[in-house]
Amino acid sequence: MTKPVIAVIVGSNRRDSLNRKLAQALVKLGADKLDARLVRIDDLPMFNQDLEGSLPPGVVRYKNELARSDGVLIVTPEHDRSIPAVLKNAVDWGARPYGKNSWAGKPTFITGTSPGAIGSAIAQQHLRAVMVSLGTILLGGEAYITFKPNLIDDQSNISDESTRAFLQGFIDRFAQLVARLAPAEAARSAA
Ligand SMILES: Cc1cc2nc3c(=O)[nH]c(=O)nc-3n(C[C@H](O)[C@H](O)[C@H](O)COP(=O)(O)O)c2cc1C
Repeated sequence: MTKPVIAVIVGSNRRDSLNRKLAQALVKLGADKLDARLVRIDDLPMFNQDLEGSLPPGVVRYKNELARSDGVLIVTPEHDRSIPAVLKNAVDWGARPYGKNSWAGKPTFITGTSPGAIGSAIAQQHLRAVMVSLGTILLGGEAYITFKPNLIDDQSNISDESTRAFLQGFIDRFAQLVARLAPAEAARSAA
């Protein structure tokens, strides 16, 4: 049986990103239910409406990857109490050109981590407002993860048992939501 395809977007372009580590751990937690594929955003050009007439190849690649996905997992840091610029740029490209909104109807799970006490909560809240306005179907609940050294080992296992169980619950509910809606799968079977 094929598994739903999930586009995994990390809101950081940092080489040793904590959020990429968390994303890889989440992918591992969902491996039996979801076909997760990392979608690059760090190579996208800065959004410019002048480019909409003939989309740059990187943007076409990115929007095709979103179109093929049944759901979206966004794992984001917080920059200056908001959405990192690299992620907001990717969100804007996904939303445009007018009439080609890649986000509409996509089941979406937003989470993220920071070494700070509130674990990227404000960035996640800002992102939720934006993604709802773009028509995503957000997974309920809040998953703000304070990153501690050794939280995630080199094999992408979450070492803290309560954090692992907490995130497993989110992944399981996300898999259920995606299985119910699966927009790309529905389009594939109708073709
Ligand atoms: C420009 C900038 C702004 C930041 N602002 C915040 C912030 O508002 N809240 C926070 O918890 N951490 C903030 N941080 C620290 C990040 O949480 C930290 O760099 C973290 O490692 C970023 O996630 P990443 O490793 O996935 O890139 C900021 C870091 C940078 C570089």
